[in-house]
Amino acid sequence: MWTKESLKQFIEDKLKNNKFIVAANREPYIHRYGVDGIECIKPASGVTTSLDPVLQACNGVWVAHGSGDADKKVVDKKDRVAVPPDNPTYTLRRLWMDKREENGYYYGFSNETLWPLCHTVYEKPKFNEEDWNYYKTINRRFADTILDEIGDSEAFVFLQDYHLCLVPKMIKEAKPSAKVALFWHIPWPNPEAFRICPWKKEILEGLLGVDLLGFHIRYHVDNFLETVNQTLEAKVDKVTSSVVFGGMETRIRPYPISIDYENIKTYSKTQECKDLSAKLKHDLDLNFKYLGVGVDRIDYTKGLVEKFDAIDRFLEKNPQYHGQFSYVQVGALSRIHISSYKQINDEMNSIVEKINWKYSSEHWVPIILIRRHLTPKELIALYKLADLCIVSSLHDGMNLVAKEFIAAVDDDKSLILSQFTGAARELPDALFINPYEPNGFADTIKQALEMPKEEKIERMKRMKEIVAENNIYTWAANVIQALLKIS
Ligand code: G6P
Repeated sequence: MWTKESLKQFIEDKLKNNKFIVAANREPYIHRYGVDGIECIKPASGVTTSLDPVLQACNGVWVAHGSGDADKKVVDKKDRVAVPPDNPTYTLRRLWMDKREENGYYYGFSNETLWPLCHTVYEKPKFNEEDWNYYKTINRRFADTILDEIGDSEAFVFLQDYHLCLVPKMIKEAKPSAKVALFWHIPWPNPEAFRICPWKKEILEGLLGVDLLGFHIRYHVDNFLETVNQTLEAKVDKVTSSVVFGGMETRIRPYPISIDYENIKTYSKTQECKDLSAKLKHDLDLNFKYLGVGVDRIDYTKGLVEKFDAIDRFLEKNPQYHGQFSYVQVGALSRIHISSYKQINDEMNSIVEKINWKYSSEHWVPIILIRRHLTPKELIALYKLADLCIVSSLHDGMNLVAKEFIAAVDDDKSLILSQFTGAARELPDALFINPYEPNGFADTIKQALEMPKEEKIERMKRMKEIVAENNIYTWAANVIQALLKIS
């Protein structure tokens, strides 16, 4: 089983003459002005949650957009800052963009084009040439910053996600000896969905600059291979799962991403965590016999309205749970300049208000929304209070909340999981729901609450074994080992 220490050792042994550079749009630490001066927070992002411990283990450089209002204040002349702030182990190299660039590249092309294009949730992607041009400009900026970090050294470059499709080719053109991998953290759609994109060829050509392209699950690998097959004059080999294009070979592989299981588990057993749980219970006035929990960015892919519809249905069908069952939803505001995100936020507020009005009594409200930023420790303390967690995504590459919950809680708890998440493929002992089907969803909530304790324990133990073994260090080691094999 891979651990932080064994990964660290492995990287020291195998990559000693290489720089290890990760690039992602989102930075793992954001500096912002708070009431007591500059504060440093961790963003709500699956990518940063999973990669921060990897970087801590291997002492590399993380290149990202400096998006905090105090970010410029804390960097050195080369835009670098050592992180994590309380115990620095690696370097964060920030790059900057102005409002127009951020609007076109991040809000526009990344999140109004590629995000809906890749998630099957029937949100129409926007295709805007100006956004595409900003996307190219910022991808070039990422590539130049990475190349600046590489300098004359040899390097392993590990790119993240759909914001950086064009960077692989740019790096390979300037530095052919660099080993480059990209991990795609969201689903890859079927070719029918992808083919409407006017810039599909450029996107695929950019991506095929990598030596290794990773997806969470085999299904996304197969979709990608078929997309390339239908779009480019390339040699696609489905048996070896590789593509040869422009004289270069790219291996396409599934690597289900995960979490730092041991770290979460260890913290969840501390007195500090117990005290924090008690404090949260008190502060939130959690007056319940049974508690459900959900932690999501407020995004139309997460099935939030569908989840609250199901809770409504559950309470309607099961009045015996009135005054007994409460649900805490942590909702981090996200991409709020995009109208569909504003809209989902409004819809969520109004459905929660409707449900609370319909059922609440003097000492009980069924749904509590937490809008403030919770630290990773507070999240673990909150999971610990819950009897069940609901992940209701309409489509999700993996979903790490499901795995964090498993790592944090005692064995007699239940995970209700959308069958449309990547995590569903790895966790057959979760209770599966179709978020589009409120009746079955409502019945599954009841089933989770009433399941015999022994069965809950059996299921949770098996899920813990899977996540413990397939942890974030295993994921990183698998990617690095595969890159090392490529000569
Ligand atoms: C998803 C994406 C990540 C992204 C995260 C948060 O998990 O795959 O790349 O960082 O959402 O979204 P944001 O736009 O705030 O970075």
